[in-house]
Amino acid sequence: MASKKKTNILILGSGGREHVLGWKLKQSPSCGKLYFAPGNGGTAQLGENLKIDPEKVDTKTVDEIDYFCRHNDVSMVIIGPEDPLAKGMADRLAKEGRTIFGPNMAAARLEGDKAWAKQMMRAASIPTAEAKVVDNYDAAVAYIESREGGMVVKAAGLAKGKGVYVCDNKEEALAAIEDIMGKKIFGDAGVQVVIEEKLQGQELSVLALVDGRNIYVLEPAQDHKQAYEGDKGPNTGGMGAYTPTPLATDKLLSQVQRDVLVPTVDILKRDGIDFKGVLYAGLMLTPAGPKVLEFNVRFGDPEVQAMMMRLKGDLLEILKATAEGRLDQVSIDWDKRCCCCVVMASGGYPGEYQKGKVIKGIKDAEAMDDVVVFHAGTKAVDGEILTAGGRVLNVCAMGKDLKEAQAKANAACEKIHFEGAQYRKDIGYRVMK
Ligand code: AMP
Ligand code: GLY
Repeated sequence: MASKKKTNILILGSGGREHVLGWKLKQSPSCGKLYFAPGNGGTAQLGENLKIDPEKVDTKTVDEIDYFCRHNDVSMVIIGPEDPLAKGMADRLAKEGRTIFGPNMAAARLEGDKAWAKQMMRAASIPTAEAKVVDNYDAAVAYIESREGGMVVKAAGLAKGKGVYVCDNKEEALAAIEDIMGKKIFGDAGVQVVIEEKLQGQELSVLALVDGRNIYVLEPAQDHKQAYEGDKGPNTGGMGAYTPTPLATDKLLSQVQRDVLVPTVDILKRDGIDFKGVLYAGLMLTPAGPKVLEFNVRFGDPEVQAMMMRLKGDLLEILKATAEGRLDQVSIDWDKRCCCCVVMASGGYPGEYQKGKVIKGIKDAEAMDDVVVFHAGTKAVDGEILTAGGRVLNVCAMGKDLKEAQAKANAACEKIHFEGAQYRKDIGYRVMK
C-alpha cells in the first residue's frame, strides 16, 4: 500500500497553546515537519521556529508566510491567537490546497468586538449579562452614575486580555472608564465600551469544534483567571486549568449546546458567516443558569493544555476535518483521568516583570510519570532555557482524580526553578473538598 503523504504544518503563535498543539500533532502518523512562527523555547524542540511575527497582519508578513508555505510544502496553517484571526489572517492565507485552521475575519469578530458579540447574543436570545454599549466618555459616566453595586467594564476591542475591569462599585467603574476612554490606554480597542452587570458563580470554559455545520463539544475545563490563590488579585490570562470538572454535567452541557452554541452558529449563518474553528464560550454558572461572559474564537490557554493531555485520537485529522466541514467523520475519545495544568509565571505578572531568568529543573519535572511541561514565555539561548514572558511554563499532570492530578502538578512545579517564579498551588480548589 502506498504510504500517505505527510502533512507539513505551520503553527502561528508563541504560547503554551501553540506548544501543546504541536506536541499533540506530532503524535499523528500523518504529521510531517512542524514549523512555528515565532514559537518559543519548547516549540524549538519539536520543529523549527521562524522569525515571523504573526500579530502583524500586513502585506509583508502575509506574503512572507505565504512564500514560506509554498517553498516548504506546508499545506496546513493553524492560527493560535486572537489578534491575527481578528485581523483576517485566515482569509488572507486561504489558498487552494491549503488547510487553514481558524475562523475567517467575519466570524472572528465574535471575539474581536465585544459590542457586536453582545448584539448577536441579544438577537439570538443567548443568555448573557445585561449590558449597555457606550461610545463616548460622557454617556459612560452618566450610565455608571445611574447604576448601583458591582459592574464589569470592558473595552470592546482586543486588549491582550487586559481590557476587562471587574468593579465592586461606581468609583472603580469610573476609574476603568478613565483608563479606557480618558487615557485611551488600549487605543482604538476602547472606542466602544461594554458596561455589564456583575454576575456571580463559578466559571466554566466550554470549547467546541465547529465545522460550519457540525458542533463537537470538547471536554470542558475550569480556568483560574486571578493571579493569586483563593481567586485573589488581578485578572490574568489564566493561571491554571483542570479537566474534567464536576460542574459540567451532561444536563448542563446539553443546555449550553442548545441555548448558546447552536444559536450562535445559526445567527452567524443567518448573516452569511460560516464559523469554522474553535468556538469558546466563557460561561458564568449563575443561580439562573449558565450565562455567556465572552466568546473566543480559538483554543483557550491554559485550558487546551489540560484538554490535549486527555485527548485520544488524531489531532491532525480532527483539525483537518473541522476545517473541511466533515467533523462528523472523525472519532474523538478522552482519557477518563483528570489533568491539572499549573501556570508558572514571572514574579510580578500580570504587572511588570523581568525576563531572561535561567530556568532549571524542567527535565526533573518531566521525569515524573504522566507529567509534561509546556513552554509559554520561554526562549532557548546557548543551550539554556530563559524566561521571556509573563506566563512562562505550563506544568501538566494526570491523576486518577483532581486531587491526585493537582498534587502531582504541584510536586512537578517544586522541581522547577527560576528567579521570582510564582504559581498557584490551589488549581481546582473550588470543586475540591
Ligand atoms: P472576559 O474576557 O470578558 O471573559 O472577562 C475576563 C474575566 O472577567 C472573566 O473570566 C470573568 O472572571 C470576569 N468577568 C467578565 N464579565 C463578567 C461579568 N459580567 N460578571 C462577573 N465577572 C465577569
Ligand atoms: N484562558 C482564557 C483564554 O484563553 O482566554
